[in-house]
Amino acid sequence: MGNESTDGLGVIRISDGDFVRLTEYLRNRFGINLTKKRVLIEGRLNQYLVRNGYDNYTNYLDAVFADPTGAELSNILNYLTTNYSFFMREWEHFEFYRTRILPELKETVKDHDLRLWSAGCSTGEEAYTLSMVTGDFFGADAPSWDRTVLATDISRKVLNFATAGAYSAEAVEPLPKGWKLAHFTKLPDGRYQAKESLRKEVLFRPFNLMEKSFPFKKKFHVIFCRNVMIYFEPQTKIELVGRFYDALAPGGYLIVGQSESLDRSATRLSYVMPSIYHKV
Ligand SMILES: C[S@@+](CC[C@H](N)C(=O)[O-])C[C@H]1O[C@@H](n2cnc3c(N)ncnc32)[C@H](O)[C@@H]1O
Repeated sequence: MGNESTDGLGVIRISDGDFVRLTEYLRNRFGINLTKKRVLIEGRLNQYLVRNGYDNYTNYLDAVFADPTGAELSNILNYLTTNYSFFMREWEHFEFYRTRILPELKETVKDHDLRLWSAGCSTGEEAYTLSMVTGDFFGADAPSWDRTVLATDISRKVLNFATAGAYSAEAVEPLPKGWKLAHFTKLPDGRYQAKESLRKEVLFRPFNLMEKSFPFKKKFHVIFCRNVMIYFEPQTKIELVGRFYDALAPGGYLIVGQSESLDRSATRLSYVMPSIYHKV
């Protein structure tokens, strides 16, 4: 049925036309393919529509596309993107980074300016984990290295959360005790906030990975882009991986999620092991 209506459960249904309008826009502008996710869209946006007085998607989408500030669009992204993340996620990657990548970089990066990027950083757990592993590796030498992690995402909401760096007690549970003590302060409400010393090592910035050219002046040694490209079309992914290749310094690494893989015939990156690629 193509008409918009509210069903017996109070869920506002999106019409075929509005569904195409929304999913095409998200696909073209952000690479996110939700063309088979009608139920997810309706489930996640319903409350927002109701709270803001909309009883149909046509009026809501008109408002989103007409909003010159981009705030409505940012909201929609906050609801529709999957921001799930956690500390120490896919720990094998950090092991590889600690035992293989960092020793290489220690030898080869003569100006001590490490270029690390968490692309699609969500609420910051990946970037902070990366920063703690790096700090640990250099130990007493850490202050002589620029270890700033660039952490980017399209969702302002997750970036605000990440910048504040306050996590629930459950969220910090996977962290080694020593790291929790060294890098987090317990707040009166029971949450744990990343200390300023850790927060200043990570630079959170809004950035859409669909930008046709990346604005970064210096090349990266390591790019983590994990669990971000899962909704991307194959061609979108190939093009993005091409931009990652160009953004990497020779010898640099791209790490994707463990459930993801790259089309090896379509990338100049060399395969190291599942989910880890190298610019030779
Ligand atoms: C599931 S989270 C992954 C977080 C972290 N990398 C991890 O593996 O735990 C995916 C993130 O990718 C972001 N994202 C999706 N499309 C994006 C795009 N076109 N540009 C930048 N970020 C994007 C989403 O906003 C979301 O926060």
